[in-house]
Amino acid sequence: MSNFNEERVLSIHHWTDTLFSFTTTRSPTFRFRNGEFTMIGIPVEGKPLLRAYSVVSPNYEEKLEFFSIKVQDGPLTSRLQHLKEGDSIIVSRKATGTLVLDNILPGRNLYLLGTGTGLAPFLSIIRDPETYERFERVVLVHGCRQVNELAYSELLSKRLPEDEFLGEEIREKLIYYPTVTREPFRNRGRITDLITSNALFDDIGLPPLDVACDRVMMCGSPQMIQDLRAILIGRDFQEGNHGEPGHFVIEKAFVER
Ligand code: A2P
Repeated sequence: MSNFNEERVLSIHHWTDTLFSFTTTRSPTFRFRNGEFTMIGIPVEGKPLLRAYSVVSPNYEEKLEFFSIKVQDGPLTSRLQHLKEGDSIIVSRKATGTLVLDNILPGRNLYLLGTGTGLAPFLSIIRDPETYERFERVVLVHGCRQVNELAYSELLSKRLPEDEFLGEEIREKLIYYPTVTREPFRNRGRITDLITSNALFDDIGLPPLDVACDRVMMCGSPQMIQDLRAILIGRDFQEGNHGEPGHFVIEKAFVER
């Protein structure tokens, strides 16, 4: 039996010259936990060319959605960016990853810290009703260089708070905090600096990160992960993993594509 399903592209959205997202059909047999990633790709010269992608869509949706950068000479994304409605892609039958609620200890506030396409896994987590059963507050921080890279900002700030099913929980519990580093914007600076300076907490009206009540998931470049992890370890947070939940969990956003 093949390890992959063939799916059909349903829609494509180009956010910028370097960022796009697309939706596909979903085989009913494909199961995943919100926050997980899977391998997706296309056949090239008869062989599947695959990369890991977090699933953006929540696991109760009929479609799958993915968020990608475009790397001009990237083996996969140089091709994937030209996808059109009706094209086929291959999607692994399995999903995996550490950014799942079960890997996090109980707490009061859940911080979801992502840079660039590191936003992707959090888009499914913030649409999981269980997230709001487990946490009083969910703070989604998305860091980008430029304002136009704040993909999904309209979904996060307008459509989700009005959502028929999740809207009330989201209005009450979700705080969306976009931040930009290389041009003017209402929130400015790297996530790391916003945490160490307390600017983030002053802005959202919550106390600074404290292992007693805060839990963190992070997804970004290796350097971003390393820097954030050092901050958390300095505050006595312990890293969680499969089988051993902790105060924080990490996943690298996949970039060489
Ligand atoms: P900066 O503009 O200061 O480099 P990239 O596109 O390079 O992945 O960056 C996405 C966002 O992540 C940018 O806002 C960038 O800020 C920020 N960033 C890059 N490195 C780090 C890091 N080590 N810690 C926190 N944020 C980072």
